[in-house]
Amino acid sequence: MLNAHLVPPSKWVARSQGSIICLVCGIAGYVGERNAVDVVFDELVKLEYRGYDSAGVAFIEGTGIKVLKKAGRLSELGKLLGETSPTSRSAIAHSRWATHGGPTDVNAHPHLDASGNLSLIHNGIIENYLDLKDGLLQRGHKFLSQTDTEVAAHLIGEEYEKGGTLEEALIRAAKQLRGAYSLVLLSAIEPEKIVAYRKTSPLVVGIGKGENLLASDVPALLPYTREVLVLEDDTMVVLTKDSVRYLSGDGRELPVRPIYIEWDVARAERGGYEHFMRKEIHEQPDVVRQCLAGRIDESGQVRLSGVFSDNVWNEIDRVNIIACGTAYHAGLLGKHLFEKLLRLPTDVYFSSEFRYGDPVLSPKSLAIFVSQSGETADTLAALKLCKARRIRTLGIVNVVGSSIARECDRTLLTQAGPEISVASTKAYTAQVILLTLLALHIAQVQEAPGLRIADWTEELLALPNLIQEALAHEDQVIQVAELIKDMPLCFFLGRGPDASVAYEGALKMKELSYIPTEESPAGEMKHGPLALVQSGVVAVFGATEMATLDKVVSNMKEIQAREGTVVAITSDETGTVRKAADHTITMMPSRLEFLNSVLSIIPMQMLSYHVARLLGRDIDHPRNLAKSVTVE
Ligand code: G6P
Repeated sequence: MLNAHLVPPSKWVARSQGSIICLVCGIAGYVGERNAVDVVFDELVKLEYRGYDSAGVAFIEGTGIKVLKKAGRLSELGKLLGETSPTSRSAIAHSRWATHGGPTDVNAHPHLDASGNLSLIHNGIIENYLDLKDGLLQRGHKFLSQTDTEVAAHLIGEEYEKGGTLEEALIRAAKQLRGAYSLVLLSAIEPEKIVAYRKTSPLVVGIGKGENLLASDVPALLPYTREVLVLEDDTMVVLTKDSVRYLSGDGRELPVRPIYIEWDVARAERGGYEHFMRKEIHEQPDVVRQCLAGRIDESGQVRLSGVFSDNVWNEIDRVNIIACGTAYHAGLLGKHLFEKLLRLPTDVYFSSEFRYGDPVLSPKSLAIFVSQSGETADTLAALKLCKARRIRTLGIVNVVGSSIARECDRTLLTQAGPEISVASTKAYTAQVILLTLLALHIAQVQEAPGLRIADWTEELLALPNLIQEALAHEDQVIQVAELIKDMPLCFFLGRGPDASVAYEGALKMKELSYIPTEESPAGEMKHGPLALVQSGVVAVFGATEMATLDKVVSNMKEIQAREGTVVAITSDETGTVRKAADHTITMMPSRLEFLNSVLSIIPMQMLSYHVARLLGRDIDHPRNLAKSVTVE
């Protein structure tokens, strides 16, 4: 074996933005002596745990390319393959989690170029695909699907027809594509090679003997090889059965430095992490990038497609956000945004209360349903109630094709990728970001006075790096976790948006560690909860809002005066908070205070994770809880 060593997960994460974490679609590729169709299908099976809505494969048949694809489970694709039992020495395959275009046979990957000689699979989002599509339509191209992928296939095909190799065509085409994506190509003209490009979305190459493989995630490769090349951002590979060429985005040869993977399959499915929850916490910089992709244009304006027309936004007089659990907490932050930026009265309801509460609903109101799964029974029932009352409905949902996504008048997808840990982390962050984009979109339509949209979008685009920085405080968080793990009670406190985040921080702590929590706006402590403070109690404060910082510091003193211990999560760089608290985690600040509140959930998520780990809890499956509550 070459370079036999194990790279710890943290290093993989640091390696490039996003490392080997795979957010959305599954990618597979093979060239070698075996039947490539069988191998890529098997790779997709290994990636099945991540969720998908359709699947497809492209392989060489005679002198052309054959594509078979099907919406639904992999077994559907398996049936199609079973009918002809095709063989090929090279193939690419894909399991899709829909973003552009619904989960149908036609929208499934692979897609072909205009000549039909080139097939493409793709992970991620091509942000400028509509502009590119316009140009291609003018040049006579015809499209079968609604996907950004088919646009990219046609564009690469056009470049390929100008001459040169497939990799040269891909380099030229990639220069025209904006977004975060990975692309994998198989051509009938050069049938014995696979060419792939990584821009942010992960790709890994498995190096074998007389065969080489490609995948979006390591588990797919492990039955064949443990020697893996992780593509850096903006690089590409050219695979034949006997060679792996690694190239920079402009075609310069790079050294191939594989690493040796020692993880078992279960650990590889978790990207090398001990638990899905930790993997999902660390995915958040990429989740935010993915959620923003294609939704902010070059002039810094928000572009949300698929929402209501402008006259509807001008008519809405009230917003009700309806959700359960973590999604409800994202809604609380939505309320701050809608009221502060738009002066639009907003209420947030627990779905279970709303559905039986006989709510007063203005006919001009908008009901927003926030749900990771899109299947939560109470939220679905609340949606039906609004529909029966003819209220406009908008879904903010992670799972495309889910009941809530289908039944709302309009749906925005969080694009966070499958969330497997029962305790929600990345879905929350994506929900908050999407609510922010929605508020900005409405502000643009309504020309909200004094609001500079470009300032907001600039800070949103900077957020992934700030999340990465917040994640780097993990060692400090572990020290605090050591302190909390033996405590009988943990408070989560804050003011304004920090209070909303405190509710989510507390939910994470109780569901994972089973330590009782008490959460409230810091100013409410003196009206009751303060009676619970005594020696041995810890209070975690979110302290990011400068206007109320002095008040929050006073609240910290109230805790300490009763022998409680104060942990502060702050972006205050003046030292005020650090001087007041017993333990402080200082995050690099955004220029937008609201985003500092959002950032403060990152240390809180890590804190509950590490407390639970130290206590030996079943982190991905807390007792008595379910990921998706589809019954009342
Ligand atoms: C369950 C999950 C929570 C989630 C809530 C709402 O309780 O354990 O993590 O926040 O359901 O789920 P939804 O899929 O509607 O966001």
